[in-house]
Amino acid sequence: MLCLKNKSNPEWIECVKKNVDSVIIDHAHCEKKAALTGMNLINGHPEKTEIILAMADLVEEEIDHFRSVVNILIERNVRLTEDPGDEYAKKLFSQLRKKQPERFLDHLLVAGIIEARSCERLQILSENLEDEKLKNFYTTLSKSEAGHYVTFVKLAKIYFNEEIVKIRLDELSNYEAEIVKNLTNLPLMHG
Ligand SMILES: [Fe+2]
Ligand SMILES: [Fe+2]
Repeated sequence: MLCLKNKSNPEWIECVKKNVDSVIIDHAHCEKKAALTGMNLINGHPEKTEIILAMADLVEEEIDHFRSVVNILIERNVRLTEDPGDEYAKKLFSQLRKKQPERFLDHLLVAGIIEARSCERLQILSENLEDEKLKNFYTTLSKSEAGHYVTFVKLAKIYFNEEIVKIRLDELSNYEAEIVKNLTNLPLMHG
């Protein structure tokens, strides 16, 4: 169902196991930025009713995820620190074409691809971490992010021809796989 062309490097989870708190902090920031992506789409496309309604739901869910992650940090006695930034997402967003409506299509698809990779990474966390509470939490979140991937692709197909969506999703997914292959396995959600 997901568009991913490769799996994450196995070294990533090994690094994460030694730095669980760092990943949780970065994860909180990822949820915050996912909500911002939804708000940006509402802001940029106020006339597109399907977009603003779907994004209003998404923003609500992502903020809910953010709150849950912050509560996990509080339980672990860890404070949320500065956003470490997300080079992976920056590289993907650099692929947005300049002209509309192509830029709008790319925005939806890049957002969808990030959801798909986040889903994969959350699944890896749920399968490999020891803490039962974290495992269950990541299983639930992974399903939610898979749903968000589907939402973005469905929205793209409302505004663009199905074949055009398929071709562009394929191009962007290939690019994303290259980024993931070259990641240096840092204790970050997309590290
Ligand atoms: Fe989320
Ligand atoms: Fe999401």
